[in-house]
Amino acid sequence: FGYCSFLIEKDRKYVCDVLCNGLARLEYRGYDSAGIGIDGDTPESPIILFKEVGKVAALRKHIAEGFPTPLPSELNGNGANGNDNSHVQGSTKLDMNKTFVSQTSMAHTRWATHGVPSVLNCHPHVSGENTEFSLVHNGIITNYKELKTVLIKRGYHFYTDTDTEAVAMLCKYVWESQPHKRLNFTELIKTVVKELEGSFAFVFKSTHFPDEMVLTRRGSPMLIGVKTDRKLKVDFVDVEMGEERVDEQVGGLLSVPGAAGPGSGPHSKLRRSQSRAFLSDDGMPQPIEFFIASDASAVIEHTKRVLYLEDDDIAHIAEGELHIHRLRRNDGLSSVRAIETLEIELAEIMKGQYDHFMQKEIYEQPESVVNTMRGRVNFDSRTIMLGGLKAYLPVIRRGRRLLFVACGTSYHSCIAVRGVFEELTEIPVAVELASDFLDRRTPVFRDDVAIFVSQSGETADTILAMRYCLERGALCLGVVNAVGSTLSRETHSGIHINAGPEIGVASTKAYTSQYVALVMMAVQLSDDSISKAARRQQIIDGLHDIPGQIRKVLGMDKALQSLAMDMLAGQKSLLIMGRGYQYATCLEGALKIKEVSYMHSEGILAGELKHGPLALIDEHLPVIFIMTRDSLYPKVQSALAQVTARKGRPIIICNDDDDSVPESAKVIRVPRTVDCLQGLINVLPLQLLSYHLAIMNGVDVDFPRNLAKSVTTE
Ligand code: G6P
Repeated sequence: FGYCSFLIEKDRKYVCDVLCNGLARLEYRGYDSAGIGIDGDTPESPIILFKEVGKVAALRKHIAEGFPTPLPSELNGNGANGNDNSHVQGSTKLDMNKTFVSQTSMAHTRWATHGVPSVLNCHPHVSGENTEFSLVHNGIITNYKELKTVLIKRGYHFYTDTDTEAVAMLCKYVWESQPHKRLNFTELIKTVVKELEGSFAFVFKSTHFPDEMVLTRRGSPMLIGVKTDRKLKVDFVDVEMGEERVDEQVGGLLSVPGAAGPGSGPHSKLRRSQSRAFLSDDGMPQPIEFFIASDASAVIEHTKRVLYLEDDDIAHIAEGELHIHRLRRNDGLSSVRAIETLEIELAEIMKGQYDHFMQKEIYEQPESVVNTMRGRVNFDSRTIMLGGLKAYLPVIRRGRRLLFVACGTSYHSCIAVRGVFEELTEIPVAVELASDFLDRRTPVFRDDVAIFVSQSGETADTILAMRYCLERGALCLGVVNAVGSTLSRETHSGIHINAGPEIGVASTKAYTSQYVALVMMAVQLSDDSISKAARRQQIIDGLHDIPGQIRKVLGMDKALQSLAMDMLAGQKSLLIMGRGYQYATCLEGALKIKEVSYMHSEGILAGELKHGPLALIDEHLPVIFIMTRDSLYPKVQSALAQVTARKGRPIIICNDDDDSVPESAKVIRVPRTVDCLQGLINVLPLQLLSYHLAIMNGVDVDFPRNLAKSVTTE
């Protein structure tokens, strides 16, 4: 997260609040440590750092005490490495009431990849003792070891275990190795970025370029929110495509009087390639704020006007102006970055009456699935139209294979709909975990249709898999929740699931919305087949009733809480069994339970019971059977019999009208729907059970240890 203000008087406390609030919204991406970097007493003086292990709340406390964190060079050997949770502070109290007319600042919440969570490894990172260059980084620099080796040979000293510090040092090296120190900030960062491999989004700040900031990305998302009272005359930034001669660029952005009109001035020939935005009516400098973030939820409370950076964009903020440059000339990318208006509302990313985001999101499902269907399903004519797919229907139908690629919960939603796609489209379907798909360098062909499912649209493995398929000429479709995310922008087309922002690390409403969106896709794909008409209508009728049925299951929350307490509290392990459409429910239920309650749980295909898992059964191990009515019901019944014969302790999820379940068993009764939709209902008790187990185990439900909602590294 970054924040720049220009011609607006703000005190340090305000700036720190903006940074911490931004971080708190991004905390779901990682919460191993949090840190901020703000201006010293003058923009030329060294950056001031506050860093803390753990969550943003701890950082806020540290800031309130007012003693900044010493630099890494001063921390080494000071107990700050390792798993030290106590915060480290300097001895001079900072004047938090000091005001600035303009300032630049940055913040970061970390999910540790290189180096343990510690104050030392916490961002922002700086270029050694004098902090000439400072930065925050999302992603991984894969060639950092090589860079570090070269820099150490040239006399640079490193203090942390992170890959990021190598980039700060590289800035210093590039600055020091140019004879006349004439590179401007943008040129310097371009030189640095050209040396980097891996994925990144960076915010840079430098004492050599006071009040300026440079941002860039490759592979990791980044957007810039713009807040100003002036009328924005231009709703785009025309990107500077040139490579070296940025110093010849003429003003034209927010502030330079008289430089506004195209075709005027001595450098008019350059205007075509000049980056422009936000021209004011009178061309005079105006107060403006820029909010830089990895995702929109962090800027929404300040502004809805945002601009998404593309890979290899180098954005430069100075004097209230924003200029965007490309790393390399003529790389074929569009030279316009539009300023978009966000559609999410602040209330959507607040907890409201709920104790946790996970709880809120579970309870939102009757509405979120409606939002997924809104404007797409016509329940009168019993038809479905997904706008994003319309133009591609013939190509998809001719496809040789439907290839679903995803991670985590999103992968489970693909498993859940595999059967209905096979049935309705009669096209072979493969479902792949993105990481494994890439590991195997799976063969992909031009007539494959690859469907990438992701809540965030930013999961690194899924994005890499998408690029792999794009390179091989496959049609690439995205099924994504986050509008404007990398997946939604880089796929040929797709579906937004419209579940609304999902903040809880454990995915709940995104799963049911992905499920609904994918079923809708299968139905639409088959609407050229008369023989499938009855089945389509049955499914559409089923979808109609789903929101009410979800509400009914949510009404059982209290009973599920008691069941969690009576049957599952204190247990070490839990098996969840089912087959057919319910295999995905078993996998997703088990994932929810282990993610948030830390209890071991395994989803098992009931058909595999006798091939191993049966050995685990005894009178202690709880086993949840998903035994709702469908064609496989008798087979699940016999699996249940095998478990009870061995004194197993079954908990059965069955339909509310089912009178053939054993009376001795603990039963969770759920409404009945069409077989291929039943998983939407059956997963709900498992979501609620996992939530209650987590609370009983004292887990911080929205932030389970070691996990992150959006995994933007491989
Ligand atoms: C992480 C999250 C999971 C999520 C998975 C895939 O592991 O903790 O909840 O299912 O990433 O994320 P995506 O955003 O691609 O759906």
